[in-house]
This record gives sequence, structure tokens and C-alpha cells, in this order.
Amino acid sequence: MIENSSFLDCDELLKAVRIKPLAAIVLGSGLGKLADDIEDPVVIPYARLSGFPVSTVEGHEGSLIFGKVDGVPVVCMKGRVHYYEGYSMQQVTYPVRFLKRLGVEHLILTNAAGGIRAGFRPGTLMIVEDHISSFVPSPFGGIPVEDYGGTQFVDMSGIYTTEILRRAAEQEQIQVEQGIYLQTTGPGYETPAEIRMYRTMGADAVGMSTTVEAAMAHALKLKVHAVSCITNPAAGLGEGKLSHEEVKIAAAEASDRLLRLVHRALQLIGQTAGDAPVTEPSVEKKEASAIQKKKVLLYTDGSARSNPDGPGGYGSVLMDADSKEVIRELSQGYQKTTNNRMELMAVIAGLEFLKDPCIVDVYSDSQYVVNSFEKKWLENWIRNNWMRGKEPVKNVDLWKKLLFVMESHQVTFHWVKGHAGNPMNERCDELATYAADHGPWIADTAYIESLK
Ligand code: HPA
Repeated sequence: MIENSSFLDCDELLKAVRIKPLAAIVLGSGLGKLADDIEDPVVIPYARLSGFPVSTVEGHEGSLIFGKVDGVPVVCMKGRVHYYEGYSMQQVTYPVRFLKRLGVEHLILTNAAGGIRAGFRPGTLMIVEDHISSFVPSPFGGIPVEDYGGTQFVDMSGIYTTEILRRAAEQEQIQVEQGIYLQTTGPGYETPAEIRMYRTMGADAVGMSTTVEAAMAHALKLKVHAVSCITNPAAGLGEGKLSHEEVKIAAAEASDRLLRLVHRALQLIGQTAGDAPVTEPSVEKKEASAIQKKKVLLYTDGSARSNPDGPGGYGSVLMDADSKEVIRELSQGYQKTTNNRMELMAVIAGLEFLKDPCIVDVYSDSQYVVNSFEKKWLENWIRNNWMRGKEPVKNVDLWKKLLFVMESHQVTFHWVKGHAGNPMNERCDELATYAADHGPWIADTAYIESLK
């Protein structure tokens, strides 16, 4: 199929709506209410957009809604078509290509899903970390992906960005899980035997959407954030038969939490805007931006009482490398954690604080942190799929988070001998131990989860 959507349409649209959206949100199950939170909304029915698939069901025609949510320029897709309704994969994924042409950099997807992992109950929210597509046709066939800034033979690892959603959940104190979403073609639900097969294959949740849109967005170099709302135990895992009614009720019940999660994620996306380039910058651009980057010294320390499992804290001091002025001190206490986690969080918090890309020298007394980079342990772990010999690597959530926040900076790690008299590292030690001993403490949810 040759697509024939003119770039001009997008330009005209952008001129008409006078907003350049940074993020797009597909208002899937449980997220419809987000439309009410859009400031100064401009509504464009799909029917006015060339190439956009329009549902033929009356009242479901759908529209794009442009505006700001929490100050972040967004476009929301109200209504979408599914493969199971008889649309082709090209049609189902067309909106993603359209959004790319509008200049969108982030795509937030939500879905309703059956829970496969033991312990998943209706209302559980699962951040999608990867997917399995079961007999669902590829969205790339016949699509000139290159015309949209993508590549045809797409590497399908790292489709989903989980960091923003995890941070959003932590800040909103919303319990979330993380796992693998499997898409079937639908519209029939699965058989119990299929669910047993999917569980063996490593799926945690099953639904009828998302993977194709996510894959297309990934091919076009968008950042994809996806959340599944578990609405029912998957076939054969609960009592009674599955019904669409049950799915709708559970999605509605989880919608408040989902809404809060997406709001917070949007705020974080807004804060990081302009940090990490979506595409690799050219060598010249990299050099040019290095010239303008601010130089920062980041001193860090972590502390944990009765390590592991006791309370802990971190302390970080950010200093302007030229003026030697302290930019900011940061610290946080945690109820139950480990020393290594606190050491990592100290670095993450410091880097996260820097909104513009900087050249950062990190000073830590943690060999765990410094050697992971200097001795290339981290590189090996990643190459071995986060395994260290036969053992899984610990604190993968934080290593991934650290790599994510490092993306926009130029970071060099330096090891300093603990308590060797460096005033800034001494200050970090003070901050960390004070936070560990006096709080206020928050939960290190990922660690607590990992103990289950
Ligand atoms: N299977 C497939 N899709 C779904 C389910 C399910 O159990 N629940 C909600 N969407």
C-alpha cells in the first residue's frame, strides 16, 4: 500500500492549532477523562485529516485534541481503530506516523489487559517493559518507514521507556508492576490452553492492542510509554467466563490512578524536554553542544543502616565546576533498602536535577558505582542480558534509570576514598546518614518488590 498523506496537511494543521505537541496520548481504556484536563483544547475530527482511519460506528468517529496538560503541549487521540474491527495494520498504525509528522516525541499508550502473572488482580497497573506479538501481522509491511525518519529493518529491543512511568508512580505513590504484554489479534478472548502457553512464553498480561502502535512508534524513533490496566484474570485463571462488561468496570475503577500516573508522567516529560535527543546528533552538533555545556561537579554518598533491609538515605551535592558555588544539596531517606541502592540513587538524583545537558564529574566512594563504569562491568552485564555469570544482576532498575538519566549528559566517574577528608564527600555522608536516621523516609518500592 502506498501512503499518500501530504506533509502539508500536518503543517496546515499545526498552523491552525498553534501548538507543537511534545507528547501524544492515546486515550485508551480508563483514560478518557484526561480529555477534560486539556487546557484550551482544539478539537480536530479524524474525518478532516487525510488518511486517518475513521470508525464507521456512529459516535465513535474520533478526533485529535490539541492543547496543554500540566503546561505540556500534547495531542490526545480520542478514539482509535483496532485490527479486530477489520482495519488493516497499515490503517491501525497510520495515526502513529501522522503523530510523528506532527513532531511528537513521546507516545503514551494504555490498554486493558487480562492478568496472567500470579498475583495480578483487576485494578493492577503494569508498566509494559517489552512485548510479544502473537500471530499479529507486522505493522511495517508496505510502509515507507524511511519517509517518516525511520528504518525498515528495525531492531526491536528497547521499544519501551519505563523510567518516566516508574518515577511518576514513585512520586504519586501508586503501586505499579512491570512486565511483558502480549497482543493477540482478538476480538475473541483466549482459550485457557492458550493462556497456559503464553504464561510459559513469559507473558504477564494479554490484550488486543498496543504492540503494533508501539513497534511503529519505535521504528520512527519515538519514546514509547505504555501501561496495562489489568481488568480480569486471563482465561482459565479466574472463576466464570470473561465478559466485556467486567473489563469496562475494572478499567473505570482504576481510572483515577491511571489518570494521576499519566499526569505525573507528562510533567516529567515536560521537565526533560530538550534533554535527550530523539535522534543521534551529527558529530558537528555534538561538538557544538559540548562547547555550550555547563560543567558540574557531583559529589554523592549513600548510607544504609543494618545493610541490607534497614533504613537508608542518600546525599548529593551539585557544584558549579567553574565558580565552585554549590548549586544544590539533595537527600532522601528510605524505609528499607541497601547501601548500593543508596549509592546509585545519589548519582541518579544529582543527574536528574540537571535539566540542561551538562558535563558532569561524579565523585563517589562507592567502588560498586565507579568500577561498574570504569572497569566496564556494566557493559558486560548488559551484553549478558543483565546476568552476572549465572546470577541475575542486582539493582537492574536503578542501573537502567542511571543509564537513562546519563543519556543527556557527558559523565565521568571518579572514585574517592571514603572519609578521607574531602569536604564535599564528607557533606554527602552527613546528608545521607541524617536522611537514613531521621527521614522523612519513603518506600524503595522496586527493592521491596524484588524481595517478594
Ligand atoms: N484478553 C484479551 N484482551 C483483554 C483481556 C483479556 O483477558 N482483558 C481485557 N482485554
